[in-house]
Amino acid sequence: MIITEISVDGYEEVVHGVDKQTGLDAYIAVHNIKLGPALGGCRYYPYKTSEKQLEDTLRLAKGMTYKNALAGLDLGGGKATVNAMPGKSPELWQAFAGLVNNLYGKYITSGDVGTTVHDLKEIAKSTDFILGHESKTDSGVATAFGVFQSIIALNKFLCGANSLKGKTIAVQGLGKVGSRVINFCLENGATIIATDTDPDTMIDDHAPISFVDPDKIYEVECDIFSPCAVGGILNRTTIPKLKCAGIAGGANNQLGSDGHAGFLKERNIFYVPDYLANCGGVIIVEKSQDKTLVDLNYESPIVKKRLDSIFNTVFKVLMESSKTNQTTTKICNDLAEERFQ
Ligand code: NAI
Repeated sequence: MIITEISVDGYEEVVHGVDKQTGLDAYIAVHNIKLGPALGGCRYYPYKTSEKQLEDTLRLAKGMTYKNALAGLDLGGGKATVNAMPGKSPELWQAFAGLVNNLYGKYITSGDVGTTVHDLKEIAKSTDFILGHESKTDSGVATAFGVFQSIIALNKFLCGANSLKGKTIAVQGLGKVGSRVINFCLENGATIIATDTDPDTMIDDHAPISFVDPDKIYEVECDIFSPCAVGGILNRTTIPKLKCAGIAGGANNQLGSDGHAGFLKERNIFYVPDYLANCGGVIIVEKSQDKTLVDLNYESPIVKKRLDSIFNTVFKVLMESSKTNQTTTKICNDLAEERFQ
């Protein structure tokens, strides 16, 4: 494998690994390790150009520094991307593990878009610098519980109520996170309006839940909108359509661009930044490194305590935003920077 070091301002270390034999074409970016080793998943995605792949790796690695810091974890931020062009093989993952090992523990890999538990198990055969590869760690439920904490904190901020009784939550995406967010909200008394691009997920189970077409979710009348599908969905086209008082969801990179946080504020819509709302996943993955903890799940006391604390952070950020007129994104960024700078 040919490993090239790339010098990028503001980043601890960036490497590009190319292995002709297995077809591996991977970047690992370590953004910041002031709080500890850089934890961040490995994205397996068909990038059109190497520049785009590097750009994505850098953006995602920096995002992990902020997410891990705000979640209160003693971890830095990093990320890996593997170009999906050659197709997966055990050898490809073995080569990727070699690239991870080359950073001597500065970077700890995990799952992300495109990587399965099976892939992670292959990687784990050749590196110890990996977390979240054991089936016992269901990050989807922990993420959903963190999103639920954000929703109830947002609801408390918006109307002072302690439960979601009488409230309508619109959920976009009924996958591992969204379906569980719905269950937590239903248990708490909410009514749900949901959508997914996969019609097979929209099953009427007689709960107080109704479904709309995917492009109609932005304009439904609701109290809180919870995006739990894909990124970039809060933009100049969708924000004017929204009929909600607040947003809290699990999807990564919900804002089309940073400037859209201001646009939401102008519309008086309170936005819980995605990396705060969805940090439950990284919280449970971090705890999974403790091998003495068996049957680790979102209710394990050590995990639950941290997930519950998301409520307080969200409430504090919303209060601060309303007091200072700053966007919630700016406030979260400042809080994270206080920890890692
Ligand atoms: P998933 O793949 O299980 O579910 C996503 C669902 O969204 C699928 O059912 C898909 O059909 C649907 N979908 C895709 N595009 C859509 C659209 N435009 N409109 C409506 N539905 C659409 O993924 P998962 O794990 O539930 O993750 C959801 C989001 O949360 C992703 O953005 C992910 O990056 C983020 N996230 C997930 C974590 C986890 O632990 N699973 C942790 C942190 C963030």
